[in-house]
Amino acid sequence: MDGVTGSELFKARQSLTYDDIIILPGHIDFGVQDVSLKTKLTREIELSYPFTSSPMDTVTEAEMAIHLALLGGLGFVHYNNSIEEQSEIIRVVKRFENGFITDPKVLGPDQTVSDIHAIREKHGFSGIPITDTGDLAGKVVGIVTNRDIDFETDLDRPLREVMTTDLVTAPKGVTLIEANQIIRESKKGKLPILDEQGRLCALVSRHDLLKNRDYPDAVKSNTKQLMVGAALSTRTDDRERLEALVDAGVDVIVIDSAQGDSTFQYEMIKHAKAAFPDLQVIGGNVVTQNQCANLIRAGADAIRIGMGPGSICITQETMAVGRGQAAAVYHCALHCNEQGVPIIADGGISDIGDIVKAIAFGASTVMMGSMFAGTSESPGEYYYQNGVRLKRYRGMASIEAMEAGGGKRYFVEQKSVRVAQGVSGYVVDKGSVMSLVPYLAQGLRHSFQDMGVIDMAQLHERLYNDSLHFELRSHSAQTEGGIHGLYSYERPNYGQRETPSEPRRG
Ligand code: IMP
Repeated sequence: MDGVTGSELFKARQSLTYDDIIILPGHIDFGVQDVSLKTKLTREIELSYPFTSSPMDTVTEAEMAIHLALLGGLGFVHYNNSIEEQSEIIRVVKRFENGFITDPKVLGPDQTVSDIHAIREKHGFSGIPITDTGDLAGKVVGIVTNRDIDFETDLDRPLREVMTTDLVTAPKGVTLIEANQIIRESKKGKLPILDEQGRLCALVSRHDLLKNRDYPDAVKSNTKQLMVGAALSTRTDDRERLEALVDAGVDVIVIDSAQGDSTFQYEMIKHAKAAFPDLQVIGGNVVTQNQCANLIRAGADAIRIGMGPGSICITQETMAVGRGQAAAVYHCALHCNEQGVPIIADGGISDIGDIVKAIAFGASTVMMGSMFAGTSESPGEYYYQNGVRLKRYRGMASIEAMEAGGGKRYFVEQKSVRVAQGVSGYVVDKGSVMSLVPYLAQGLRHSFQDMGVIDMAQLHERLYNDSLHFELRSHSAQTEGGIHGLYSYERPNYGQRETPSEPRRG
């Protein structure tokens, strides 16, 4: 037999990780577009693609969660914020309807032309609805567009004096096709959608007319809303957070702990499952089979695997506790898959190949932080350093994030002495997840084709019936497999790449 099986590869009980291993190719008898990447996130939730985003304050808020769900993955909203802030993010995702702006900026009639300029500068859009109370709960009394203020020199002029009151609106319940038709015929830039009391429910923008596209892979709940996850800690007072998140419509929660095998976590899982039996609950992070067994016994619907592989993580250095991610994924998956509980390989994914390996070792999905951190959908502003466009990315156990409340994941109780298990830094601009995710998906399809497997189920079947073979990579094999011998080169910039639509070969 050429190569070794998964069980032989990991039998030496070495803390192997993705780079240490290569997968041997199989036989191709199908096209690359025949590959299906559908998978299970938890016992009950299915995703179109195995991609999830980390609950970190430089990775996942509403924009990331909306776009990942539209594209077939799922985002986990971080909890380095107040209960109200986190629940509002969940509500924004739940309110999202393709083509409808469901959290529009509004102003009141007594606000001034300078307030319009401030919104325009910060967000770049015009066409601001005016409500009698100045917030979304008020009645719409007008709209201010560029045309209303283009020649206005008095920045203190109240909006009631410049706004357009002759409005074209549409009633709540209108379809996107109907709304677009009204926009076309009325030649207006924005169409406010009003409820029976005249309150603003959403806005449709002429500017978005052509951009509105179909998302056949979108991950939706049975209410037809996008699915979204959220993180919370093991602390008893986070039971209040849990209630607020469920009230906001969260579909799945992840109990976020760097070392998940704790009495506190069992209690939180049991409480969540007893209080909300329909809610999917993910336990973690763990890296051994015993730990998985404990969390499954407590009632977890999926297990998050990883202790130390994160790109911003210094846990293994400071704590000397953890496991090489490939070994952690393989051993945990062996136990969890037998129990019908999917696992999420969390951290250390720096390229498509790492995603493939995580799945080939038994994971059903991956969770990525740095991969999504530099995209336009991640929170934060872009910076330039030496001409390179960057975004901030920080570990939740970096001193900086802990000061903002992120230490909850690390049992940090004493405020005066904090031991960092993460760093904060910058990642390069990756463009939008709208291009990055299709790029990752297409790369995965090619890889599945190279392995000769057509879907997730077949890959796991081949792992466990020993027909998928691997090999350890020597140090020089790793050098050979990377870029070498060139004077200079350019790395692919994922997000800005066009997605290949044609099969590469085979
Ligand atoms: P990445 O995808 O390699 O950047 O890893 C992201 C993962 O690192 C997250 O999903 C968390 O599990 C983990 N993580 C987040 N913050 C920290 C930290 O400060 N120290 C260690 N691990 C962290």
